Amino acid sequence: MVKKIGILTSGGDCAGLNAVIRAVTLRAINEYGWQVFGLKDGTLGLMRDPIDVIELRPSNFDGNLMRMGGTFLGSNNKGNPFGIIKKNGKKIEASDVIINSFKKLELDALIGIGGDGSLKILQTLTKKGNINFIGIPKTIDNDVKYNELSIGYDTAVDVATNALDMLQPTAASHRRAMILEVMGRDAGHIALNSGIAGGADVILIPEIPYTIKGIANHIDKIRSEGRNHALIVVAEAVKKEDGKKATVKFVDGEVRLGGIGTYLGDEIYKITDAETRVTVLGHVQRGAQPTHRDRLIASAFGVKAVDLIADGKFNRVVVWQDRGVKDVSLDDIAGKSQTISISDPLIDVAKGLGIYIGDIN
Ligand code: F6P
Repeated sequence: MVKKIGILTSGGDCAGLNAVIRAVTLRAINEYGWQVFGLKDGTLGLMRDPIDVIELRPSNFDGNLMRMGGTFLGSNNKGNPFGIIKKNGKKIEASDVIINSFKKLELDALIGIGGDGSLKILQTLTKKGNINFIGIPKTIDNDVKYNELSIGYDTAVDVATNALDMLQPTAASHRRAMILEVMGRDAGHIALNSGIAGGADVILIPEIPYTIKGIANHIDKIRSEGRNHALIVVAEAVKKEDGKKATVKFVDGEVRLGGIGTYLGDEIYKITDAETRVTVLGHVQRGAQPTHRDRLIASAFGVKAVDLIADGKFNRVVVWQDRGVKDVSLDDIAGKSQTISISDPLIDVAKGLGIYIGDIN
């Protein structure tokens, strides 16, 4: 009989995390009478002494929380829980510490809310520790396999679309080509969806090759048809023409995606008359207030995750498919990602609108 469950948010934050924590808490307590414990800062809370955990109650969610971006439990997208750490002067495997803490809490099951990277780590951890696990997909990148909508994605697309709405008037006022660089890692979902919704003229995604010449021709064509400005959306992992990724080395030594917008701005400026400006949207895509759709998906995922535990089904991930929540095996999802296929109907929509989307027919 399940009596106590734990919940954690792992990986990069996004909008809708507080809404899913609320849904899990309400369902587990109101329907089943269980206790719910929120583990702080992803798996980091389990590595602290004392273990960083709070008991969650419906009263935690009486007010604004479900409307707020971020995760009030905190998250972590750094470090490998399978690395060696020092504790009390001794060298130990971090995963052993995490698993031992989990056992100390005497939790019957764990709900982990994460993207493809986190789900892979949590799969390995929970297998090693023999922990009853349910995964919930969240990521603005929307790249979790077999899942049409991840929590946080809709809000990120909305933010990027709003940015295009705000760039268009200033582009027109100054006769410029405006470039918007959006997140999404190796998947072009945010760029493709916001580009169509925000009236972009050019959409570049990592999945489709392009040429600077192709973009320039398109901008010249727009000009010759009488329009004085253009909007270009580019996903952060789009490569330069030489096939290299645009990256930035941070002071912590980490190399992160960034800079493709500036590269394109310079290259387009060189071979067209178009004056270019670049906006890098960055983390505003993650911190916004969740859209109604993200709150709905978060709520549906939270309820289903608790029901799966009640049914004694573990090692599953809840997913959105065909207008509803289903569950699939964690083993089928972990470590795999979902990028845009060339046969995606939205590619045809973009082409049908006359958007330059790269060198495809
Ligand atoms: O995976 C989510 C994401 O926001 C990516 O779109 C982006 O590349 C990355 O995380 C940014 O990570 P960080 O918050 O570490 O800068």
